Amino acid sequence: MSGRPEMFEGVDEIWLDGEFVDFEDAQIHVLTHALHYGTGVFEGVRCYETEEGPAIFRWEEHLDRFYDSGRVYDIDIPFEKSELTEATEELIRREELDSCYIRPIAFYGYGPLGLNPGNSPVQVALAVWPWGAYLGDEALEEGVDVAVSSWRKYASSQIPTNAKTTGTYVNSVLASQEAKANGYAEAIVLNKEGNVAEGPGENIFLVRDGEIYTTGLAESILDGITRQTAIELAEDMGYVVHDDATISRGELYTADELFFTGTAAEVTPIRSVDDNQIGSGTKGPVTDDIQTAFFDLVESGDREEWFRYL
Ligand SMILES: Cc1ncc(COP(=O)(O)O)c(C=O)c1O
Repeated sequence: MSGRPEMFEGVDEIWLDGEFVDFEDAQIHVLTHALHYGTGVFEGVRCYETEEGPAIFRWEEHLDRFYDSGRVYDIDIPFEKSELTEATEELIRREELDSCYIRPIAFYGYGPLGLNPGNSPVQVALAVWPWGAYLGDEALEEGVDVAVSSWRKYASSQIPTNAKTTGTYVNSVLASQEAKANGYAEAIVLNKEGNVAEGPGENIFLVRDGEIYTTGLAESILDGITRQTAIELAEDMGYVVHDDATISRGELYTADELFFTGTAAEVTPIRSVDDNQIGSGTKGPVTDDIQTAFFDLVESGDREEWFRYL
């Protein structure tokens, strides 16, 4: 196929509805329900090259969230968790990848159109590809410049924010496009109340007087698995972590440190918000502690219960 995006250049196969198919054959119909109404759920997972070989990080937690997201929309995933696990592992082996990003997706497929998906079939796909630092290697060291978006995060009373739903990502796309158009690496979105929610694809942490704060689940955020990991790592290091914080926009500007967490973004320092320098304008010491602990963890594979070795 000509014009394949660079990130997918080396990908040979995709798993679609129970079969391994050639990359070019992983096609769906234009009348797919999810294409019109956004009725799909997905995950983003990483497989790391640990000292003990390739291992999928927190696969069970991602899989649980995947099925839970589906449940919100009655998307009854027609495969057992064990089948998707086996297929994912096999796919990574077939692609001969030591580390990669994993994208499971389940969606209402080609059936009658109309808002209620009714008996539309549920289709499931798994794809894997190599993916380095989402916001760039330099971002991990130096931090990113971000801007508060003019787009608000939808409230969980409008669309469940704990489900990772394809259609809802238009909100993240708008925030991200706006940030990039204005010369920033990423956005921060406020919730309906005007307090901090999260990034378009990341959770956010704030450090003040040596203590760590992250926005609570009631602030219209996704319950990020990297967020949970960072909280545990921080607590293990003796930090006090407030994991149900309400953070106002102004508190961002006066924070000692800020950082994003996410499967794609991993642990990325934030060095400025709306052109206000945060702390010393580079990665702060607490952020460095959490980031170091995170990368030590995924390189060593030390906490066995969090890794699924191939
Ligand atoms: C909106 C949003 N918030 C937070 C996250 C971080 O979640 P996780 O750490 O599970 O990748 C993501 C990424 O999946 C996301 O899309």
